[in-house]
Amino acid sequence: MLKGKSSAEVGARMSALFDDKREAIEQWTRDPCGFSGAEGVEVGTKAFYERVDANRYDEYGPWMKSTLEFACFAGKRLLEVGFGMGTDLFQFASSGALASGVDLSPTHLQIASQRFSLYGVPADLRLADAENLPFKDGAFDVVYTFGVIHHTPNTQKAAEEIYRVLKPGGRAIIGVYHRYSAFFLSSVLLESYLLRLGCLRESYRRTLSRIEVRRHSDACPLVKVYSRGSLRRLLRRFPVVQIECAHLDRSHFGTLGRLVPDGIVGWLERRQRMGWYLIAKCTK
Ligand SMILES: C[S@@+](CC[C@H](N)C(=O)[O-])C[C@H]1O[C@@H](n2cnc3c(N)ncnc32)[C@H](O)[C@@H]1O
Repeated sequence: MLKGKSSAEVGARMSALFDDKREAIEQWTRDPCGFSGAEGVEVGTKAFYERVDANRYDEYGPWMKSTLEFACFAGKRLLEVGFGMGTDLFQFASSGALASGVDLSPTHLQIASQRFSLYGVPADLRLADAENLPFKDGAFDVVYTFGVIHHTPNTQKAAEEIYRVLKPGGRAIIGVYHRYSAFFLSSVLLESYLLRLGCLRESYRRTLSRIEVRRHSDACPLVKVYSRGSLRRLLRRFPVVQIECAHLDRSHFGTLGRLVPDGIVGWLERRQRMGWYLIAKCTK
């Protein structure tokens, strides 16, 4: 299957069958990212954004605010690549960062722009591609991207672009899905693909695309997963790369989860093992 193949090769093979960027736009136009938890609340209202925040930072990822350093960049020029509904970018901007962002999805651009104008927080938001950022070399002090560059076909190009637009000494915070996570190994690969014989019904790519919530379309967004080693290779131009791992829950082990003692989950979390996200903190 993927054994022995670099993520660039896998990406290239998948791209031969799908127009990856079209699939991404289709996916996140029909099912905006981070919408779950705020269904039924009118989009673009304060109640909507408050619900989105509560769902993300209180329920889904209580670790996010501190690990992702939202409050650390007051006065810094910060770019988010793939801002989704603008939820994290709004956190940076509310803490004083000078926020810019790009995303491929017009729906995301609209929902994020509405949020910034509703609260009177300035931001330069654009429709643009991570693989071809519309900014000069060294334009930013910080580049942040979370859950994005593993969806684009040429992830290496996206990484090069992040490096290019960062000033020397600047910081990049890059979050991607983790191959050696409980969620990927148990719930996706073992249960969905192998034990439930997903491998006979559909392609590996389609099984992975189901990781993204798809209620309103049959889009098949590209999803790649990274090990610490492959993430380091992707980011090899950065002289300093520190990799953290976060987001582990007993449910990630799938059906087996009931058998996993709390102590083991806590131990893995403390050791930063088997979480769903790898977060690279890089200095240029
Ligand atoms: C899973 S969502 C994550 C959004 C946001 N970062 C978050 O954590 O909520 C993936 C986002 O990446 C965007 N995206 C995918 N490929 C992209 C590309 N090549 N350039 C820019 N944005 C892209 C999608 O439109 C979508 O908003």
